[in-house]
Amino acid sequence: MLQFYIIYVILFISSACFLIKWFFSSSSSHKILPPSPPKLPIFGNIHQLGMHPHLSLHSLAQRHGPLMLLHFGRVPVLIISCANAARKITKTYDLIFSNRPKSMIKYKLFYDGKDVAFAPYGEYWRKIRSLCVLQLLSNFRVQSFKTVREEEISLFMKKIESYASLTIPVNLSEMFSLFTNDVVCRAAFGRKYSEGEGGRKFKELFGELGQLLGGFYIGDFIPWLRWVNYFSGIDAKANKVAKEFDEFLDKVVEEHLHGQEREIKNHGSQEGKDFVDVLLEVQKDNKDDFSFDIVTIKALILDVFAGGTDTTYTLMEWAMAELLRHPRVMKELQNEVRRIANGKQNVKEEDLDKMHYLKAVLKETLRLHPPLPLSVPRESTQDVKIMGYNISAGTTVITNVWAIGRDPTSWDKPHDFSPERFLNNSIDFKGHDFQLIPFGAGRRGCPGTLFAMATNEIVLANLVHRFDWSLPVGTKPEDLDMTECTGITAHRMIPLRVVATPTFQ
Ligand code: HEM
Repeated sequence: MLQFYIIYVILFISSACFLIKWFFSSSSSHKILPPSPPKLPIFGNIHQLGMHPHLSLHSLAQRHGPLMLLHFGRVPVLIISCANAARKITKTYDLIFSNRPKSMIKYKLFYDGKDVAFAPYGEYWRKIRSLCVLQLLSNFRVQSFKTVREEEISLFMKKIESYASLTIPVNLSEMFSLFTNDVVCRAAFGRKYSEGEGGRKFKELFGELGQLLGGFYIGDFIPWLRWVNYFSGIDAKANKVAKEFDEFLDKVVEEHLHGQEREIKNHGSQEGKDFVDVLLEVQKDNKDDFSFDIVTIKALILDVFAGGTDTTYTLMEWAMAELLRHPRVMKELQNEVRRIANGKQNVKEEDLDKMHYLKAVLKETLRLHPPLPLSVPRESTQDVKIMGYNISAGTTVITNVWAIGRDPTSWDKPHDFSPERFLNNSIDFKGHDFQLIPFGAGRRGCPGTLFAMATNEIVLANLVHRFDWSLPVGTKPEDLDMTECTGITAHRMIPLRVVATPTFQ
C-alpha cells in the first residue's frame, strides 16, 4: 500500500513539474513548426496511435499534412507521409538524420546497441555497417547461398505436393515462415534449427523477440515512467530473451570456433561459408584495423534474424494473397514464368533476369504491403529547416512507408493492385525513387535488400510455375481477408490457406 502511495506522490509532483516546463517552453518558441494535431499534457499524441499506427498516422496526416509533428511524451516525433519529405530526410539531409533513437528494451536485446540496426550513428556503426554490406550481404555472398535457396525450395515444393495429393489446403503463411527461417539459419549458422525440441524452442524464442521488438515502451518517451516496464514484467521478459539468445549464439560461435572439420572441408574457399564463419575470419585477419569482439559478432547475427526473417516472409504472404485476389494477374505471371522456364520442372535463378512481370508483381506488393509499414525510426542530430519548417536536434523521425505507397499524388489509382504500372519505367525499391521505399534509403537504408529479394523472387517463381492455386471451396477471391495484424511487421492477421494443384505429375 505504502509503495503505491509513494508512486502516486511521485507521479503528481513529476506531472506538475512537467506542466510548468511545458507551458514556458511552448510560449517562448518563435520557430515555425510543422502542423500538429492537439495533444494531451504529459502523454502528447501517444493515445492517437491505435492498434495499427500506420493507419492512424495516415488519417492524421490527411488532416495535418505530410510533414507533421507529434509528441510521444516529451519526445518530438516528425511523421513523414510523402515522397518529397522522405527525399529530404534520406537524401538531402541524410547525414543529419542518420542516428537512431535510443530504446531501453532494444538496447537490452541487442547488446547495448552493438548491432547495426540500433547502433548510434558514428565510427563504430560505420565499421560494422561496412562489415555487413561488404562481407555478409554483398552480391557475391548472396550468390554464394544459391545452393541453399535451391535445396530449401526443393524441400518446400515437396511439402506442398504432399498436401496437394491429399487435397488439403496448405497454410502458406506458416510454410513461408519456416522456409525463411531455414534459409536464414543456413546462411547465418550453416545449419537449420527448425526440427525437434531445439527447433520448437528456437521458434518460441524468436516469437518472443518479435513481440518485444513490436512493443511500445512508454519509458522511452516519458523517462520517469520507466518503472512501468519493470512492473509490467517487460524488463524481466527482455532480460530472459536476451539471455537465452546470448546462450544460443555463444553455443553457435563456440561450435564454429572448434569446427576444424568444416574448415578442412571448405579448403579456405568462400563457397559454403556462413555468416559466423565469415565474421570469425575477418576478426582473425583484422585487416582494416578494426578489431571487434564476439559480442559484435553475436549482435550482427541477431540483426540478420530480427531484420531478415519476418520481413521476407511477410512479402511472400502478401504477394500470394494479392495474386489469389487477382486471377488475371496470376495468369499473366504464370504465363511469363512458364514460358521462360520452357518445360523445366524448376525455375532456376539464371531465369529470373528475364521475368519482368514477376519483378513488377513484387514491387507492387511492396508498394501496397511494405513489410515494415513504419520504417525504423531515425533521429536528427542538428537543428535543420525542412520544407519551411524548423526541426530541432533530437527529433525522432518516422516515415510512413505505407502511406507513401498509397499517396495519390505519386500513384495513379493507388489502391489498385496493378503490377503493369512498373513495366515501362525504371521505378525501383533501391532507395532512389522516394515514392517506393520499403527498404528505406540513404546511409541507414536496408543492407539486406539483395538477400531478401533473391529469396522472394525464386520462391514466387517456383510456386506459380509448379502449382495452380485456388482458395478453399466457398471463398471468393474478392472475399479474401486482407487484415493486417499488429506489431512492427505487418503480417496477415489470418494465415493464408490455399489449395495447390501440381502442374507436373
Ligand atoms: C523484405 C524484406 C526486408 C524489408 C522490407 C526490410 C526493410 C528495412 C527497413 C525499412 C530498414 C530501415 C531503413 C532506414 O532506416 O532507412 C531496414 C534496416 C535494416 N535491415 Fe532490412 N529489410 C528486409 C530484409 C532484410 C534482410 C534479409 C536483412 C539481413 C539479412 C536485413 C537487415 C537490416 C539491417 C541490419 C538494417 C539496419 C541498417 C542500419 O541501421 O544501418 N533486412 N530494413
